[in-house]
Amino acid sequence: MHAAYIFLLLLVVTHGIQATLYTVTNTARWLFQEYNQVDRKLVQNVSLFVDPEDKGVVAYTTKLTHEIHVSASYISNYSGDVRKEITGVLYHEMTHVRQWHGSHGEAPTRLTEGIADYVRLKANLGSGYWVKAGEGDIWDEGYDVTAWFLDYCDGLRNGFVAE
Ligand SMILES: *[C@@H]1O[C@H](CO)[C@@H](O)[C@H](O)[C@H]1NC(C)=O
Ligand SMILES: *[C@@H]1O[C@H](CO)[C@@H](O)[C@H](O)[C@H]1NC(C)=O
Repeated sequence: MHAAYIFLLLLVVTHGIQATLYTVTNTARWLFQEYNQVDRKLVQNVSLFVDPEDKGVVAYTTKLTHEIHVSASYISNYSGDVRKEITGVLYHEMTHVRQWHGSHGEAPTRLTEGIADYVRLKANLGSGYWVKAGEGDIWDEGYDVTAWFLDYCDGLRNGFVAE
């Protein structure tokens, strides 16, 4: 059996994939202070796929159908705490599920990617590959760099990122 499937099986057995996604969703809700029903995005169905063929990305999420795809070769080839890494990846992708992208998808991608990594950061699930706080060239570089910038801003004013 492929190592990726063994890993996924372990994750489901020890943690439960629904439990993982449920925890992630609540973290994101809490972070974004989604108390207002009007602002809440209606998401009824999230599906998780492990893609056997390598598409050159770690993971991605489809905007309309909310399918999270994770690369099997990324899971297989990851050396280190693979469970922490993939849980972090799921935090990132579940944030995209919860996130608004603008009515025509016009929300700036580097910012939405930064917010997804910010949720991951606040869950203490940052990747070993990430830059350190303060590194990077510009605030909206995306991903980890932008996540650290947002964390800095939220430290200056609590609730900044939620707003
Ligand atoms: C949920 O999403 C999956 C994948 O897009 C789809 O195959 C399935 O039919 C959906 N289920 C419901 C109840 O909408
Ligand atoms: C590891 O990654 C390489 C390059 O992306 C890929 O060719 C290989 O199939 C991967 N290994 C496994 C076990 O998936």
